[in-house]
Amino acid sequence: MIKVTNLSKRFVTDRGEVKAVVGVTFDVPKGAFFTLLGPSGCGKSTTLRCLAGLEKPEQGEIIIGDTVMYSSEKGISVPPDRRDAGMVFQSYAIWPHMKVFDNVAFPLQVKSKGLNSAQIREKVKKTLELVRMEGYEDRPATQLSGGQQQRVAMARALLQEPRVLLMDEPLSNLDAKLREQMRVEVRDLVHRLGLTTVYVTHDQLEAFAMSTKIAVMFEGRIVQIGTPWEIYTQPANKFVAVADFVGLANFFEGKVVGGVGASGRGTIETTMGTLECTVPEGMSTGGKVLISARPEVVQVSREKPSGGGAIMLGEVERAIFLGEYFDVRIRIGAETVRARLGPYFEVKDGDKLYVQIAGSSCSVMRSESVASAKQ
Ligand SMILES: Nc1ncnc2c1ncn2[C@@H]1O[C@H](COP(=O)(O)OP(=O)(O)OP(=O)(O)O)[C@@H](O)[C@H]1O
Ligand SMILES: [Mg+2]
Repeated sequence: MIKVTNLSKRFVTDRGEVKAVVGVTFDVPKGAFFTLLGPSGCGKSTTLRCLAGLEKPEQGEIIIGDTVMYSSEKGISVPPDRRDAGMVFQSYAIWPHMKVFDNVAFPLQVKSKGLNSAQIREKVKKTLELVRMEGYEDRPATQLSGGQQQRVAMARALLQEPRVLLMDEPLSNLDAKLREQMRVEVRDLVHRLGLTTVYVTHDQLEAFAMSTKIAVMFEGRIVQIGTPWEIYTQPANKFVAVADFVGLANFFEGKVVGGVGASGRGTIETTMGTLECTVPEGMSTGGKVLISARPEVVQVSREKPSGGGAIMLGEVERAIFLGEYFDVRIRIGAETVRARLGPYFEVKDGDKLYVQIAGSSCSVMRSESVASAKQ
């Protein structure tokens, strides 16, 4: 439904040139919920604005449906109002001096599409029902809560029955509780309408909860595309893994010492002990790797555990109680391992604990791929 190929956009400022988007390529199938996730300034909004036609890229191609909306090669650039895309932004883009009805109906009143006022009224009513704002037609926009304003903005985008929906951090001005509720609501609504959506956020949980696919962006580029599960469990490079929006991870250097066969599993020697892991394709004995293990897969016990994996004795450097769990740093030789312990573990600084990591819950990357990702 949406096909973006080799998109690049730079801005020229007083301080020089900013490469906001660099060679971005992705495909969004019909009905998919596709999210651009990444830290501030990585080019998410610029990419979305290029899709909407609000920014003009220097290079690349954007196809929505069967229509080429932008092509540097063919010299095509379709104006925003003819791209058939509904947009919802972070700041409530509703007009404070208008009532809810006029805010939602505005695009139809400007471009009536041959509808009379009774038909417009009916359409607005139906759309307000979709976002659970029925009966609010005559309420002045200033008398709405943040969440209600964002629903009105969504209703306005949906009223035009766009082919695609583009949303730029639409929930980030809402408080935590409402944001969580709206996540599910927005996802279910666009799913029910079968709308193809491109969503922008820097919030990992939001991206995971809503998306069918996520593209992780860093410094203008896409560094990984995958399902939320793939992004979390198989980070493509260290940046994806360490970045705070994809959670924290422990990293150990290691060397493949044998056993790489058709199964793809190999024996890896690390500073934390020897592990049996799935190794990257084409990796052979002697290859250097970086292993990551998320805090929640690190097993901790007071007694020496039985079973496989790497087992080491360490000392608690710092334990912070966070309600749901203790966030614990355990020193093992020169390494520090981060783990999560249940709230009833009663751990304190200086405790001696065994740490066990199973190879099956680690993800293994080639050392070279990490070095190149940092460049
Ligand atoms: N109009 C502009 N003029 C100059 N530089 C710009 C302009 N718009 C964006 N940039 C720069 O381009 C880069 C990407 O910006 P963009 O707004 O796409 O980031 P973002 O990923 O949406 O960040 P955030 O999460 O903070 O919204 C940034 O370095 C930004 O400063
Ligand atoms: Mg942005």
